[in-house]
Amino acid sequence: MRTRILKGFSKLTENQKRNLIAQYCKDPEGAEGEMKSLLFADPEERKNFLELSENTISSFHLPYGIVPNVVVDGKVYHVPMAIEESSVVAAASHSTRFWAEHGGFRVKQLSTIKLGHVYFRWFGEPAALLQRWDQLKAHLLEHLKKVTASMVHRGGGVISLELIDETRSIENLYKLELEVDTVNSMGANFINTCLEDMAEGLEVFFGDGKEINDRECQVSMAILSNNTAKCTVTVEASCQIDSLSRITEGMPVGLFADKMVLAYQIAHMDTYRAATHNKGIMNGVDAVLIATGNDFRAAEAATHAYASRSGQYRGLSWCEVRDEVLTLGLTLPLAVGTVGGITNLHPLARLSLEILGNPSARDLMGIVAAVGLATNFASVRSLVTTGIQKGHMRLHLSNMLNALNADEEQRKEAEIHFRGKKVSYSAVKHFINGRGH
Ligand code: MEV
Repeated sequence: MRTRILKGFSKLTENQKRNLIAQYCKDPEGAEGEMKSLLFADPEERKNFLELSENTISSFHLPYGIVPNVVVDGKVYHVPMAIEESSVVAAASHSTRFWAEHGGFRVKQLSTIKLGHVYFRWFGEPAALLQRWDQLKAHLLEHLKKVTASMVHRGGGVISLELIDETRSIENLYKLELEVDTVNSMGANFINTCLEDMAEGLEVFFGDGKEINDRECQVSMAILSNNTAKCTVTVEASCQIDSLSRITEGMPVGLFADKMVLAYQIAHMDTYRAATHNKGIMNGVDAVLIATGNDFRAAEAATHAYASRSGQYRGLSWCEVRDEVLTLGLTLPLAVGTVGGITNLHPLARLSLEILGNPSARDLMGIVAAVGLATNFASVRSLVTTGIQKGHMRLHLSNMLNALNADEEQRKEAEIHFRGKKVSYSAVKHFINGRGH
């Protein structure tokens, strides 16, 4: 079917939407059935799920796996991850097992301040704005009280409110910067509600009954910042370099430790490597965030802004050797929630939090960062020893065998045949076809 502009799509029923979209597939009936079968069977769960987003016609499944034995500050967690990349859970598990035997990960520092801004232009005398700032601040904080009451009750609320002059960058531009504590919620809705309330309060304060065009104060926008540089967690893990011998793939430990330190220095120095190095961290981070119903796009945005804070994009983690001890570390900007959002609405997100023992947002920050450091360590270890293709391809082989509908006997033969060999789709296909497919 030729793709055409669809009018009024959102007004169709769920079935009508699915039916219409299935017409773009080779086998519309089959496609419709498949999309439908991937939805929850339980009507209540299905209804809640469909309502999470607009125009939902199916559910996109990801493998949901567990990285066992993540030790953070002496506590053991078996961490759920939702990710499709074959080798990530296996590599993370290998890494967390090693670190569990060496004291696990320690949370060294943690802060949870989130912030947002109201951007506005001030066309009056700058001095007049500054003169009235104290009065304006009191007015805005008073205005905010009704919005923040329940957050204050839960132990959070406003931390500070500042006026920042941005006129050196953009004529007439100022911003209000609001810092808040959102306790166990990620708090995006709360922060944006506060900011929009302040924007309204600002316009009322300077409105003076004038037409909108004639006002001295014009609000541009009110929005939280995903640059969560004051909401960060630092985790570290250390071991004697001698104890690395188990995981060096035969390399002398001293040489392995040197290569590790150099690899982290390269990620600090070279933006090309830094992006890939950080991707290895986010493999773990995003997978846990998805499994626990957290906003991984926010974490990605925060991470890359934070990685660029020196003016150059750099690797987020480090590795050093001192007095025969190797220490790994990672600071991650991370705004997470364990209540609110879809954490209670998505059945698997809810179960993930249960599996983790219903952690606080602060606990979850430590767990996520530990897994990020574990996947990062696993990647760099492979890179400086065997290369990543060996591990990747072993798991990839299994996916290829599935795609080629290999039977049990063919799988066993293929696994033996490709052990230690380079695996490619054409080589696997050739091997299977040569054995009667
Ligand atoms: C692949 O998903 C991630 C790695 O490229 C990370 C890295 O290079 O550090 C292996």
